[in-house]
Amino acid sequence: MTIYIDNETIEKIKDSGDIVDIVSDYVQLKRSGANFVGLCPFHNEKTPSFTVSQSKQFFHCFGCGESGDLITFVMKRENLDFTEAIKFLGERLGIPIESKEVDKKYINEREEAYRINREAARFFYKNLTTNNNALKYLKKRQISAKTIRQFGLGFAQDNWESLYNYLTKRGFKAEEIEKIGLIAKGSGNNSYYDRFRNRIIFPIIDTRSRVVGFGGRVLDDTMPKYLNSRDSIVFNKGRHLYGLNLVSKFSDREKILLVEGYMDVISLYSRGITYSVASLGTALTEEQGKLLRRYGKEVYICFDSDTAGIKASFKAIDVLLKIGVSPRIVLLPDNMDPDDYINKYGLFEFEKLINQSLHYIDYKIHVNKKKYDLNRPEDTIKFTKEIVKVIKSLKSPVEQDVFIKKISQDTGISKEAIEREIREGSSTYRRTDRKRKINKDRPIIKPVQDRISSGSKKAQLDLIRLAIDNREYFEVINESLTNYNIFNQNYQKIFQLIENEYEDKNSLDKDALFDTLLRQDIDKKLVEAIFHGKLEYEPTDMEQVLSDLINTIILERLEEARKDIIKQIEDIERKKSSDQIDDGLKKLFMRLTDINERIKLLRQE
Ligand code: CTP
Ligand code: MN
Repeated sequence: MTIYIDNETIEKIKDSGDIVDIVSDYVQLKRSGANFVGLCPFHNEKTPSFTVSQSKQFFHCFGCGESGDLITFVMKRENLDFTEAIKFLGERLGIPIESKEVDKKYINEREEAYRINREAARFFYKNLTTNNNALKYLKKRQISAKTIRQFGLGFAQDNWESLYNYLTKRGFKAEEIEKIGLIAKGSGNNSYYDRFRNRIIFPIIDTRSRVVGFGGRVLDDTMPKYLNSRDSIVFNKGRHLYGLNLVSKFSDREKILLVEGYMDVISLYSRGITYSVASLGTALTEEQGKLLRRYGKEVYICFDSDTAGIKASFKAIDVLLKIGVSPRIVLLPDNMDPDDYINKYGLFEFEKLINQSLHYIDYKIHVNKKKYDLNRPEDTIKFTKEIVKVIKSLKSPVEQDVFIKKISQDTGISKEAIEREIREGSSTYRRTDRKRKINKDRPIIKPVQDRISSGSKKAQLDLIRLAIDNREYFEVINESLTNYNIFNQNYQKIFQLIENEYEDKNSLDKDALFDTLLRQDIDKKLVEAIFHGKLEYEPTDMEQVLSDLINTIILERLEEARKDIIKQIEDIERKKSSDQIDDGLKKLFMRLTDINERIKLLRQE
């Protein structure tokens, strides 16, 4: 058995540990320009050549050449392995380390997956150096040999089994190769074929220099343009960013630029923008957002300027706001992506675009302005209403004021009218408004359990009462209900009846509902409890209360699921006779990791 610490914990350690702080436990550091220097703890010296960079969270000794990040420092200084170092830091930083003993085979399988990917990347790279067609294509796209090396680009031959043959000859098992999506099973029982064929290959490398997956692009207009590794024991699209390996090594972490595609990252890098990354063909996830937050003080988004790009930008803005990042948006001329732009106009002009980037609110104003014709009164009204929604989401009155002034100037609507609109809004209930309010960035709150002690059952009861009390609350709860199964069956039924009772009305007739419930086959005591119990919340922060109640229930459900999976794993482990780790077990481990992460996220909220 081996100790396994999940990624979320490792990320947290990296997030909250400051290298200068930790090194100072061992070395007397003095500030020197942007860095700190001191006497190297790894070799004997009289004049300090040991340098620590706070912004890069990196140390380097010019005397003996030792270098690395916070974790490597602790590993070297305390003579610990990776896991021990994480535990050590966890104690030092007061971060609880949830580790689990897992079957060594699970770890081995992951390591094997990394080895296969690495070998495949080598093979693809070698192919590229000898394939004129592919080289010609890259040349046409202005990608130099140096860039090819830096990104480890490759080529998958126009052949159904070259990779398969190459890897199996080196002793890798077909099943293992298939699991990470490099080959697929053919129609015959034991035949396999290469998934990536006749494509330029982009290895996706994590910040620990492991190849986790691949993207592959056709050389012409064949569909699909890109093929990506499927999610596997080492790869999850929503958790990686293309190019982050280079950013983590070379960026000063002042800025990070989020773009859409592989080619954007590569072109930008080769021309001197060494701090861009791409989300892997999916909408930005919160996990990716957190990576952006870690690797850049300022986060910029530069997506294509088409409708899809605008939509994706809005989505990314929301995700980032939720984790406390206010992004800036870099605008591109129509029909261009960052790759096109920097190739056509060069580094200097691209940097100009970055300097002219918009605050995300300005960006929303900009997009809405294009949507409406401000010479037409009815459009002006619609425009203003849209923008008011955006301004409302700002917490700081000062910030609000800045944008109110701007809108007033743009539209000729008086500041006072806009302010009134913000304060009062329209009186009818609007679903989208509420959604925004609930999702908007809010301060980190105490763990759910502290606030609501009596657990899930009481939470369900309270939610029902709140749903009866107010249509807005009802809608919020209803939404979570569709996303998660938050009520047990009895309550579900009640909730359904509440929904019926509301119909299109803004409030419901409590007496009528009471009668309906009594007529149903529902525990009378429960009905009594709903109508005669007292709600004990301050009405000032109902959003928070609602989301706490909902989270309490979701958390409990997740904990239950977690326990169940652990039990299943233990059962299988106990019964297992062979050494093979089977698919079922692997899936359970993956689900466990997933649930652990969701629980942690919820607890942070
Ligand atoms: N993508 C994908 N699958 C597709 C199309 C796109 O995974 N079928 C992802 C890729 O990560 C791609 C990104 O979405 O890099 C952006 O797509 P697109 O703008 O079409 O590609 P570019 O990166 O601009 O590639 P190119 O310039 O070569 O057309
Ligand atoms: Mn492109």
